[in-house]
Order: sequence, then C-alpha cells, then structure tokens
Amino acid sequence: MGSRILGTGRSLPQACLSNHDLTTRLDTSDEWIRSRTGISHRYLIRANESLVDIAAHASKQALERSALSPSDLDAIVCGTVSAEYAFPSFACQLQRTLGVTSIPAFDVSAACSGFVYAMAVADSTMRAGDWNRVLVIGADALSTMVDWGDRSTAVLFGDGAGAVVMASEPGPRGVVATLLRSSGELADLLTAKGTGLRCTAETEARRSPDDALQMRGPELFKVAVKSMADITRQVVERAGFKLEDVDVIVPHQANIRIINAVAERLGLNPEKVFVNIERYGNTSAASVPIALDEAVENGRIHDNDLVLMVACGGGLTWGASLLRW
Ligand code: ACO
Repeated sequence: MGSRILGTGRSLPQACLSNHDLTTRLDTSDEWIRSRTGISHRYLIRANESLVDIAAHASKQALERSALSPSDLDAIVCGTVSAEYAFPSFACQLQRTLGVTSIPAFDVSAACSGFVYAMAVADSTMRAGDWNRVLVIGADALSTMVDWGDRSTAVLFGDGAGAVVMASEPGPRGVVATLLRSSGELADLLTAKGTGLRCTAETEARRSPDDALQMRGPELFKVAVKSMADITRQVVERAGFKLEDVDVIVPHQANIRIINAVAERLGLNPEKVFVNIERYGNTSAASVPIALDEAVENGRIHDNDLVLMVACGGGLTWGASLLRW
C-alpha cells in the first residue's frame, strides 16, 4: 500500500507588497531584489490576520478538490516553524478551526523543508497501515521573525500556506521514494529565536536583532545548491529512475539563483522546473505546496507524470520526494 495526493490548495494573506513598497521602509531597490533573488512581490501577514485561518482556507480547498470533508481525515500533519504558541501546536489549532476531533494532529519542525518532512511522516504512517487519509500542510510567516531593519533578510520572505490531502492507495501512483537529511552542525547558517513573538511588518513592536532571523546568506546559498542537487540525484536513483525521467520538478522557492544553479548542476531542462518565486518570495514550509498547487492549476502536471519536490532550510534540513502523479 502506498500513498498519493488527491487534492491541493493554497492561501495567502491579503496584503501583497511589491519591491517598490519595501523601498519606503528599507534602503533597498527593486533592481537589487530582482537581480539577487528573482522576487518582485510577496504576501505579508498583518497583525489582525491568523496564519491558522489562512492554513484552514488552503486545507478546505484541498479537501474540496479531493471530494472529502474534514471528518474524513485520520490525521493532520503540519510542517511549520510559525506556531504562535509553544503549545497547543499549530496542527491542533488548525484541527479546532476545521472542526475535527480525536484524530492525531501535530507539527513537524524543519523550517523550509517542513512540508517535505511532513509528507514523509504521512506517507510512512500510511504505508504502515495506520492512517488512510491525511491532511498535510506547509504554513509559515517568516515575515514575523525578521528584523525589519535588516534589509539583507527582510526582503526575502513572504507568508502563506499550502495543503494537500493524501490517501493510501495500492498501485503505481503516489509517493515512489523519499529522502530526508539534516545537519545540525550547520545550524548557525540560519536561525530565529522566540517563535511566539509576533511582530508583523506594520506593527510598532520590533524584534531585537538578537531574536530576529539571522542568516549567513552567501554560505547558505552554496549549501542549499549542493544539498538540493545531491538529494535530487539520490532520490531519483533510489527509485530506479534517471533524472531525465522526471517530468516536473517543484523546488523550494528560496532564490531564483539557487533554483537555476541546482538545475544547471543537474543538467535539468529548465522548462521542467516550476518557478513562482517572483510573486510570493520565500514562504518557507509553504513554498513547495503553494508551488505544487499552482503547477496543478496551470496544467503543468498531468496524470502519470513523475513529479519531484525538493527543499532545503534552517536546521539545516533538506529532503526530496518523488511521486507518480
Ligand atoms: N538591498 C540592497 N542592497 C543589499 C540588500 C538589499 N535588500 N541586502 C544586502 N545588500 C547589500 C549588502 O549590504 C552588500 O553590500 P556591500 O557589498 O556594500 O557590503 C551587497 O548588497 C552584497 O551582499 P551579498 O550578501 O554579498 O549579496 P549576495 O549576492 O550574496 O546575495 C542573498 C544575498 C540574496 C541573501 C544570497 O546570499 C542568498 O540568496 N543566499 C541564500 C539565502 C536564502 O535563500 N535564504 C533563505 C532561507 S534558506 C533557504 O530557504 C534555502
């Protein structure tokens, strides 16, 4: 018995800010941000919005497209580092919003790799025979963790949520292989303290630079390219395929230059690589499921396509999942 994705969904905060909008609060430019990152817009959560509500919206969309209701679920697994509370978990808050009781709901903390990690947990548990239908979310609001005085990080991130409903199913469709990796020794490349502190871009309250997200960008860039390229090759080999067999690649959208460098290193046809970073920025754990949902909506993914998702993030963590759609 394997597991496959039945339906996808995505949801964003209301406010969409352009690079130009950011120039009113930071010493930066549209040209710098576009040329260094590929980002032109991002959605940023406001103080009166709830990331749980945004995730609930994405979840309901994924459930509807799967012709299921919340009461059909056996579990909820959330990839997030943006839970407002130490407890209850983000997943438990989402469970309450969706109005389901008694099923297990928990978070998986792997920063930008959170969705790939959460999917791996769901897939393994379904293979073990314990769950049949699982809601898997990637949701983050890293704009609440940056120091809005630090132009080198504040321009990179956007907020949002993506969701999939997975179901156990016999046969060739679904998850073919997954690989997860972490390297705690590289923890210092990307850190953020005090997840409970919620300072949005427009609130008066500011994170102190010590508490805010800190990043060693150029070093992280190199590790992200190598780790995503290596794990892509490894997961494809593990499944007994060749890279050219993969029809669509949905990578974590951190930086267009990282995505292009991974594709170049692997000799991938750029047309197979789905990119939407221009409109969302880096949405952390939400980036892969948001991109997946758009790729499905835009007709980029067809039945029986071999689809590869790959991500890398704070921890460091990285992972890849190969699916027969
Ligand atoms: N606007 C204008 N200038 C800026 C900005 C900005 N927003 N940010 C930094 N600069 C300046 C710097 O001060 C520096 O100026 P100086 O040369 O006078 O000192 C100059 O631009 C160059 O800075 P670098 O850090 O060398 O720029 P680089 O080309 O490395 O690009 C970037 C920076 C985009 C952060 C890059 O290192 C990167 O993408 N790293 C990966 C980080 C990442 O993607 N993190 C996301 C989380 S991890 C993940 O998701 C995989």
